[in-house]
Amino acid sequence: MKLKTQLLLASVMVALVSPVAVFAQPMAKGVWLAPSAGAAKTPPMGWNSWNAFRTEVDEDKVMGAAQALVDEGLAKKGYIYVNLDDGWWQKRRQSDGRMIIRTRIFPSAATPDGTTSFRGFTDRLHGMGLKAGLYTDVGHNACSQAFDLHSPNLPEGTAEERQVGLAGHVSQDINLYFSDWGFDYIKVDACGLADFAPGSQLVKDNGYIGLEPEIERASINRTDSARVEARYAEVAAALKQANPDNDYVFSICNWGMANVREWGKDVGSSWRTSSDITPNWTSMLHNYDSAAKRALYAGPGHWNDPDILYIGAGDFDTDHLTEARTHFTLWAMMSSPLLISYDLRKAPQSLLDIWGNADLIAVDQDPAGNQAIIAYDSDDAQILVKTMADGHKVVALFNRTASPVKVSLLASHLKLKGDAAITLTDLWSKTASTFTGETGFDLAPHETRVFSVQGARELAEGVYLSEIPGAINVVDDGVKTPEADPSIHRMIDPWAGTRSSGSRPQYAGWGGAQADTTPYGQTLQIGGQSFDSGIGVLGNSLLQVKNEAGYRSFRALVGVDASTPLRDRAVTFAVYGDGKLLARTPPLKFGDAPREITADLSGHKVIELLATHDSTADERPVVVTWGAARLLK
Ligand code: GLA
Repeated sequence: MKLKTQLLLASVMVALVSPVAVFAQPMAKGVWLAPSAGAAKTPPMGWNSWNAFRTEVDEDKVMGAAQALVDEGLAKKGYIYVNLDDGWWQKRRQSDGRMIIRTRIFPSAATPDGTTSFRGFTDRLHGMGLKAGLYTDVGHNACSQAFDLHSPNLPEGTAEERQVGLAGHVSQDINLYFSDWGFDYIKVDACGLADFAPGSQLVKDNGYIGLEPEIERASINRTDSARVEARYAEVAAALKQANPDNDYVFSICNWGMANVREWGKDVGSSWRTSSDITPNWTSMLHNYDSAAKRALYAGPGHWNDPDILYIGAGDFDTDHLTEARTHFTLWAMMSSPLLISYDLRKAPQSLLDIWGNADLIAVDQDPAGNQAIIAYDSDDAQILVKTMADGHKVVALFNRTASPVKVSLLASHLKLKGDAAITLTDLWSKTASTFTGETGFDLAPHETRVFSVQGARELAEGVYLSEIPGAINVVDDGVKTPEADPSIHRMIDPWAGTRSSGSRPQYAGWGGAQADTTPYGQTLQIGGQSFDSGIGVLGNSLLQVKNEAGYRSFRALVGVDASTPLRDRAVTFAVYGDGKLLARTPPLKFGDAPREITADLSGHKVIELLATHDSTADERPVVVTWGAARLLK
């Protein structure tokens, strides 16, 4: 249970005698809390059956994809997970609860006694130097049982036999899938918690056993986020137990619901940030937006997942290579999982060249795990900047629109010096160019240009925290009441079309911690001073920074941000090193000038930044700014 969701007993007792419920303030932890379980030190790469085949998947199709990954050299480039999505199951055997595989489409899974096993299948993949992934649901039923009712591959039998999800069988299934069958990766969906309401038409028509929804897609307030988190945490614990070698990936797939933006990193290797991608430009925008401003929540071992790639279909097919390259570039910039979902047995060279762009794969797979920061933001064009482990930058200039757009790239977008030469190397064409200060581009409709950058750092003797989001763990972002993020592109719902009054903001996350902007997307500003670099967060927050590089000091200019909705709180900023208080400001108020805070980090590995103030449970948030927050040599 998170501190912030928990009213301390004492606070509750105070509330009994006074009308004001005091909110618990976070405290320094002294140890690095970002979990290290699982094998996804870099974003998982591979292939997934869903966008290519939906439930009409079979063994030949999957093995064909696996063979192509090897033959086309994609496996060597990192695409090693071969993930079987929905459609593989026949039923849950009632005598012992064991899951039975549909051997009609996976013939190698047949055993003489009908027990069925994927061991032969995973052995073959492992023999090819690949890894194997499987799909399940955290509830009793899976998504195809709600959304692919025409499918020939739906679970069969009684209502109980058709309960193929993990609920009630977590350890049994996880042990079967990992210890017995030898899988390395699991995607855990959540339709079972959302779509099988007792008494609903779906449940009545199909004779399912209903489950009172714990996820209400249209309402974060009616979603039981703590319950959903607890269900996924139970899966995480079973995975840990079944995989003493730590070689597993846990892909959470609850489509950005239940406030997973906040807890996904503590539970899984990756978590979906939105609903399913479709092969449409606006769907790609929607899924991209759902992850693009969550950089501080991702890092080595835990990744935002805007969904599998749709390169090769619809707006991203061979007639739309500009769009296909943009899709791939954006996913790489965001350190997203790269999962091809195309019938690779017949992939044209033009698409293989996109998935196989080694320079962009290296951007995605950079070990520092710094998801790109948005250095220039608008609904028309964006400039994304990613800092690589060796300190150099990669920049992407993204035209979101169907018209040409002019973009000026400034040295300051890159946090590079404006009076020294900057070299750009195009990661698609490989051509190089040089500029000083500022340069311009004409982006074609939907085009993204992406460059590796060499130049002189603005901050030669250190690094801004906003350059190293992968080294930051947001323990507590101060969000008390989850709010839907209104900044995500609202596409026309591909399933409902315009048969509703509108496409609404639906993913909680508004107000989360941000690099170089406030939690609500404003310029960082304290008193009258604004900051290009810094961390924007709400009050009563705790951020951890991993100081593996051994920086000697921390400096920032801190205060209550000029955009704060609540103005009358005094905020204390404190810096801890491995649990020891290193520096603290006096209480600072709205309107106060920025206050310098410096801390001697000598030898400290885990730096913690706390901003705390008195608060009641239901008041509006206080926005605070760690201006120009930086680590210095
Ligand atoms: C959900 C998931 C998809 C896919 C399907 C399978 O919609 O989000 O990625 O796994 O279920 O039915």
